[in-house]
Amino acid sequence: MGNENVRQKKSLIDKLTEIRHELHRFPEVSQKEYKTTERLSNWLTEAGYTILPFDIETGLVAEIRGGLPGPTVAYRTDIDALPIQEQTGLSYASTNDGVSHACGHDFHMTIALGAAFVLAEKKEQLKGTVRFIFQPAEETTQGARQLIEAGLFTDEKIEAIFGLHNQPAIAAGKVGLTDHHLMGAVDTIRITINGHGGHGAMPHQTIDSVVAGSAVVMGLQSAVSRNIDPFEPVVITLGSFHSGTTHNVIAQSAELFGTVRSFNPKIRAKLPELIERISKEIAKGYGAEAEVEFIPQVPAIDNDTLMTQFVQEAVEEVLGKDAVVKPNPTLGGEDFSLYQQHVPGCYFWMGTGDAEKGITKHWHDPAFLVNDDVTLDAVTVVVNTLERALDHFSIQTNKGRNT
Ligand code: NI
Repeated sequence: MGNENVRQKKSLIDKLTEIRHELHRFPEVSQKEYKTTERLSNWLTEAGYTILPFDIETGLVAEIRGGLPGPTVAYRTDIDALPIQEQTGLSYASTNDGVSHACGHDFHMTIALGAAFVLAEKKEQLKGTVRFIFQPAEETTQGARQLIEAGLFTDEKIEAIFGLHNQPAIAAGKVGLTDHHLMGAVDTIRITINGHGGHGAMPHQTIDSVVAGSAVVMGLQSAVSRNIDPFEPVVITLGSFHSGTTHNVIAQSAELFGTVRSFNPKIRAKLPELIERISKEIAKGYGAEAEVEFIPQVPAIDNDTLMTQFVQEAVEEVLGKDAVVKPNPTLGGEDFSLYQQHVPGCYFWMGTGDAEKGITKHWHDPAFLVNDDVTLDAVTVVVNTLERALDHFSIQTNKGRNT
């Protein structure tokens, strides 16, 4: 590498570290990312990007058109922070009380900006168009939907989409990559148990909604184990159970609020009926009635084989042949999956874990840390992936023209 290259690399690292720390210092929760959007817009405009006129309250889509004709591919980052009081002790810790980037979306934005800067530098040789999606409200699984509804996939044909998340459970220098499910489908359930209230000493004159509701909670746990193929993961968690007003009155009703996680879309499609039937029948056994509301949120991340191959080749070129590791998928959700319903995509995990530097805490921990030493590698992997995708679809487009 020549001296000029080394100098450029150093100045990019310095710039990105400064950006990351600034973003970290001023986190904003989902749908409130106004200042973050303004900062992003300034950096991107300065780098020569066009901010596309999508009708969205926060977040933005920035585009660069290369000097050579070609297809359009997209890269997505999330931008929101969490309502968590930071406890990292960092010199650039959050200055917004009770809000912090405890999931590393500041790191994700920095990587996207880094890739955007690198592509802008070689704009003239770029074969096609790249769209950088700075998506709001990932934590509330609303942002991807908002962008899609704003027309993200209707104003221009987008051939592919890529995205990443930091992963402290994977060592820095490694990348967790799969061409199948990486993260789970997320759905919400709300179950209301209607009984008949009365005196705590005379249960025979009442229909106890707490007892019926408790039976529903237990019944739903065995519903999964007795109805779903054990090789198909499903989790039903009733995280909230509210009922009653005092110790000696049998409650009239109970409200159960829960989350349902799965991978396989065929299994997911069966869950509303299963949950409704079991809840109603169990409640009925106690003389109560259950109303069940199943609220679909996001499907599972299911990576496209070819898009995964582009990421794999990029990682191997940038980080070495053994840098790709098989990740342990999680039923945690990620609304990147909604984009994958429209275009082939790949979402992967950039390893950030480093025990010596104390980077071990998982997402949403108040002492969560990312790893600035990984930023430049991540930027290079993203750029390399996007260029591979552009190359591939340019050839496809040209073939189409010839025939
Ligand atoms: Ni996150």
